[in-house]
Amino acid sequence: MARATLGTWVTLLAIMKSRVSERSTRFTESVIREMTRLCNQHDGVNLAQGFPDFPAPASVKEAAARAVMDDVNQYAITWGALRLRRALADKTRRFTGLEYDTETEMTVCCGSTECMASTLLGIVDPGDEVIVFEPFYENYGPDAVLCGATPRFVRLREPDWTFDPRELEAAFGNRTKAIVINTPNNPTGKVFTRDELETIAALCVKWDVIAVTDEIYEHILYEGRTHVPMASLEGMRDRTVTISGISKTYSVTGWRIGWCLAPWSITSAIRKVHDFLTVGAPAPLQEAAATALELPEAYYQQMAVDYQARRDYLVPALEAAGFKPFQPQGAYYVMTDISGFGATDDVAFARKLVAEIGVAGVPGSSFYSRPEHGRQRLRFHFARRRATLEAAVERLNRMSARATFA
Ligand SMILES: Cc1ncc(COP(=O)(O)O)c(C=O)c1O
Repeated sequence: MARATLGTWVTLLAIMKSRVSERSTRFTESVIREMTRLCNQHDGVNLAQGFPDFPAPASVKEAAARAVMDDVNQYAITWGALRLRRALADKTRRFTGLEYDTETEMTVCCGSTECMASTLLGIVDPGDEVIVFEPFYENYGPDAVLCGATPRFVRLREPDWTFDPRELEAAFGNRTKAIVINTPNNPTGKVFTRDELETIAALCVKWDVIAVTDEIYEHILYEGRTHVPMASLEGMRDRTVTISGISKTYSVTGWRIGWCLAPWSITSAIRKVHDFLTVGAPAPLQEAAATALELPEAYYQQMAVDYQARRDYLVPALEAAGFKPFQPQGAYYVMTDISGFGATDDVAFARKLVAEIGVAGVPGSSFYSRPEHGRQRLRFHFARRRATLEAAVERLNRMSARATFA
């Protein structure tokens, strides 16, 4: 009987194998989304998948509703509605001083996620190398695989998540096509300093490499830090693809609007890939995105203040519960060290935390190319109303009441 069962599995696997591409077997389902499903099953507090549970700005929602009622229901221009591109040019100038041409240097996609995939598919050939800092936002690994690139990982090291310039230099070579940077950073909360970015920029110039910079958390910065756009550094304007979107800044992760800013030589490729992947981003929500981009400076300042208050509530509470958090400088994530619990398996720890305590986080290993580097790490996010964070903290407090947890 056991043999028959094994035989059935082998046959099934053989059939399945021939039905899926080899490349799709080289990455797993998203661990983050899996934690959300697990959290729902246990009716837990979801501090795993990074999306806000508070409302989006009223004026932005009204603009979306208006656009639907005005019958903005058909395909927008594939690379983005003109009103959105104009708003994007204005906002970029307002915040960074950089000029981008609405006709030739912008592509609006279905979220930053599609921006990254379209960019890498547009610029990378199989066999090219792409440098990725790790721990990394989990999409970058599969993105590299999908375009046939060989990822070269460079470690960001605790406690301040900086990189060793020699290690970075050694990762560059003749086959390097691009480097992916994410600042402010998910999952660490690191904000790259100007010095660090200049080190990266100098290597990009030296090796003729394109910087693909995910700046989706550009407005979520603490203690008055400022965001340094990679494209603003000397020699980088024409070798940088700047990716951002409305998901995080305006609390609308489900609307799926993002954009790539890049010189025409690169935009021309991104646009073609984007067109055949998705045709275009949701038309009425592009109108609302334009309204969002027109919000005054005070909106961004208040948002950063509000996130800092959430951080300052959750981080000490995590510490009190027995985690060792690494203080984030930006974005809305906090990476923690779970070794204090005697934990050696982050995935088992995360499952147990959600099942027995009712709080979901993300196992650290999902952010590393070599899972063993994240085995004693767990990431939480704090894009949550105060009441939700209080519910999480109330549950976490039960951990310290137990003699052992892991
Ligand atoms: C670094 C980073 N980039 C991109 C995304 C996804 O952005 P979007 O909703 O625009 O696809 C996330 C979401 O968590 C993220 O953390």
